Parts: sequence; structure tokens; C-alpha cells
Amino acid sequence: MTRLSVNINKIATIRNARGGNVPNVLKAAIDCQRFGAEGITVHPRPDERHIRYQDVHDIKPEIVTEFNIEGNPTDSFLELVKTVKPHQVTLVPDAPDALTSNAGWDTITHKDFLTNVIKSLKESGIRTSIFIGTDIELIKRAADTGTDRVELYTEPYAVDYIVDPEKAVLPFVKAAEAAHEVGLGVNAGHDLDLNNLKYFAKYVKPLDEVSIGHALISDALYLGLENVIQMYLRELRDANL
Ligand code: PXP
Repeated sequence: MTRLSVNINKIATIRNARGGNVPNVLKAAIDCQRFGAEGITVHPRPDERHIRYQDVHDIKPEIVTEFNIEGNPTDSFLELVKTVKPHQVTLVPDAPDALTSNAGWDTITHKDFLTNVIKSLKESGIRTSIFIGTDIELIKRAADTGTDRVELYTEPYAVDYIVDPEKAVLPFVKAAEAAHEVGLGVNAGHDLDLNNLKYFAKYVKPLDEVSIGHALISDALYLGLENVIQMYLRELRDANL
């Protein structure tokens, strides 16, 4: 079964809009877990405009479900994750001013850098994943870096799904197969939602984990967090029927 990791950055974005502690990010992490999330994802950016480094320290001891920290492996990010020691770190090549992650790694150009970073994370006992597009060569070369998994960047799927689901999912089916062939686990994320998730999880196999933030938290405004987490879990379960 594909695990659902809930990205709680958006909760922090709302909190930061007012400067106080409402909504409480730590409570949201604990509640997501209580409501059935099989993982919590955070993406601390250098300017801490959503999740702050302190949030990451606060969340780790309070949750037992899988903790995934995403980010660009700057020195300060690496220091943070090696101290906190989450279950998984997802390396993302996002520029400090990027609105959101908008591209995967070039695993050929950045092979040496990624290899060194991944080696140091593994020495700290942390599973690694690298954010990547569907280019088969780059996926195969991801294995050379020593990473455990790749996370497929699904925004192109979400955009194309509206027009032609079959065509939209095909590059991801092939990408997951290629990753599997070279021994990598497969995660996926970005713009997955209640409309497009089941179709993705039905055809992209193996699929270890999806991390979902923006749509899930937005749905929760209407339907409630507990309900919405159950709805996303149901989509993943139904994809495997
Ligand atoms: N994966 C990565 C690497 C991301 O940066 C994000 C967004 O922070 C997500 C997954 C989740 O994307 P979304 O918020 O669109 O569900």
C-alpha cells in the first residue's frame, strides 16, 4: 500500500500570517497522525516563511509516524536534519525564492554533490529520497548517487490529467518502472489531489509514498482535517482494489 504523508507547511503559512501560534503547527502534526496520516512532511525553507527550523525540532519527539523533511541541502538544512534525524530526507533543488518546488534534480550534473550529501545522511541513519522529473536517464543515474528512493515531481501529471489522464500518467508509469529496475523506491508529490490521486496510484507502481499538502489542507477548510485525511486514504486504498 502507498503511504500518505501529509505536508503541513500550509498550516505554518496561516500561522505565520498573524505572528502568533494559531493554528498550532505541532498540534496539527499530532492530529494528522491521530487522524490516520502515515507520515508527516515538512519543508523548512531558508527564510522560514512556512515551517520554521524550531517547528522541526518540536515535531520530531511528538510523532511516531514517519517524519519526512524536504529541502535544498544547504549547510544549515543538513545540520538541522542530522540533529533531528527524521526517518527520511527528501532533497529538493529549489531556489531560496521559489514559490514552491518546481523542478527535480539533474542527477548527472549534480552527481558528486548528491553522492556526498546522501553518504553523510546515511551515516546519520537517515533514508534518502531525491526529487526528480520523469527523464528515464536521470532516474537511472539517480541510483549512482546512493539514494534509497526518488520522489517523482507530479505537477506535470496534475496539469495534463485534466486534459488526458492516460497520456498524463504514462511518463510516470515508465519512470516508476525505471526506478524499480535500478533498485530505487518511489515516492511522488506535488499537486496531487482528490481528483487525480486514485488514477495516479492505480497505474504508477510500485509507489511507496505520496506527500500531499496544498490540496489536502485546502480541502480541510471545507471538510475538516480528520475527514479529509480519511478521504485521501480511501483514494489510495481504492486504487489498489
Ligand atoms: N514534494 C515536494 C518536494 C514539495 O516541495 C511539495 C510542496 O512543498 C510537495 C511534495 C507537496 O506538494 P503539494 O503541496 O502541491 O501537495
